[in-house]
Amino acid sequence: MKARSIYVCSACGYTCAKWQGKCPGCGEWNTLAETVAAPQSPAAKSSARSLSQARDVGAFPLSGISAEGEHRYKTGLRELDRVLGGGIVKGSLVLLGGDPGIGKSTLLLQICQTLGRELSVLYVSGEESGRQLKLRAERLGVDSPDLLVMAETDCETICEYIRRSLPGLVMIDSIQTVSMDGLTSSPGSIVQVRECTNAFMRLAKMLDIPIIIVSHVNKDGQIAGPKALEHIVDAVLYFEGERTLSYRILRAIKNRYGSTNEIGVFEMRDRGLNEVENPSLMLLSGRPKNVPGTCVVCLLEGSRPILAEVQGLVSTSGFGNARRMANGFDLNRLNMLLAVLEKRAGYFFANLDAYINVVGGLRLDEPAADLTVALALVSSLKDFPVPEDVIAFGEVGLAGEIRAVSQCAQRAAEAARLGFKRCILPASGKKSAGKIEGMEIVGVKSIREAFEALK
Ligand code: TYD
Ligand code: MG
Repeated sequence: MKARSIYVCSACGYTCAKWQGKCPGCGEWNTLAETVAAPQSPAAKSSARSLSQARDVGAFPLSGISAEGEHRYKTGLRELDRVLGGGIVKGSLVLLGGDPGIGKSTLLLQICQTLGRELSVLYVSGEESGRQLKLRAERLGVDSPDLLVMAETDCETICEYIRRSLPGLVMIDSIQTVSMDGLTSSPGSIVQVRECTNAFMRLAKMLDIPIIIVSHVNKDGQIAGPKALEHIVDAVLYFEGERTLSYRILRAIKNRYGSTNEIGVFEMRDRGLNEVENPSLMLLSGRPKNVPGTCVVCLLEGSRPILAEVQGLVSTSGFGNARRMANGFDLNRLNMLLAVLEKRAGYFFANLDAYINVVGGLRLDEPAADLTVALALVSSLKDFPVPEDVIAFGEVGLAGEIRAVSQCAQRAAEAARLGFKRCILPASGKKSAGKIEGMEIVGVKSIREAFEALK
């Protein structure tokens, strides 16, 4: 068969026959890279076959399969365990993605300390030498005797070693450095990364060993990012945060063994990552007092309510068309809110720039943040500060109405715990919020009412 060039997106794995500047799959620019569409290489095929030889073939009735024995290993970091749904499941393949330098290797090395007590851990590093790892481990205080390190990048060699030595847990740092002989493309390319991940997936399932794979988020066309692997693995965790801030947020995007709503919060210190048990307190520290354009929201991240500060800035536009920018909030949603504020509540933003920033690198995915964003914008527009002891949340509808959100009571209670005195929430949620000592609960039906309630 004649080899044919195809173009593969490094971000999402979309393939097309012709080069294009923008990937039709995910809309990213300059992510298509040329690869040779070789039929699956003999090496990959033979390794697949040799791996599957040990498996029995056949179908079983689901009712007859036992779900018992699902064993979870506690990592020693409660924040990570919660995001994983209670620990690492035996035989699972977990993908840990994040920007380079965010702290992925640090996180993995840190959990070796606890896991190393009950398991033998194999840490495969294609990026750092043994000496570098040792230096880092010393700094982090990791001295587990059962931690084996291996500086290797050949996928077959790594798999062979795992098959022979049967470690209790394997970490691959990072998948972009691992490559398979017999594939024409270079390490880090989408074909390599995918084939290697597939090989580790088969190995994890066959030997019932949990494997954690690190993948760097990279926009460069030559290197494939974690997005291209999400469909293969059992769980996808992203480690996020602003490089200039020390906070890091761990988020599950996919989890075959638990929920994906949970987040874990860490702080990067000079001796590694520390768990943040009370993120609200951290996120609200340094909040300016009595300044227009800031308002606090209570989000529900999985089972945990988290308070976050939303800042809005509205200023005269110096150019023809007004700028709208959102950091941590959906830009389309911001545009929609501006339109609602203008049409339904009479706050005019035409010819004004509008900016939204969520403090601490948090992302507001919940509609409950709508009202907070709207109040931050109106507060900046009117130059009227939202009192510092007020918290507001609620979904804003296109008619300017404030719609119900879930778990009003839990959100209000968390705000009360942190010293807030007044809670503005959807009128329909007022009853369910009940009475909270020391807190005035104000139910509102529209944005206008909400802004009036501030006065
Ligand atoms: P690292 O885990 O190497 O990132 P990744 O594997 O995701 O690329 O983290 C590197 C960054 O973390 C580096 O910029 C320095 C910082 N860091 C600390 O601040 N304190 C520490 O104790 C360690 C080990 C790293
Ligand atoms: Mg690293």
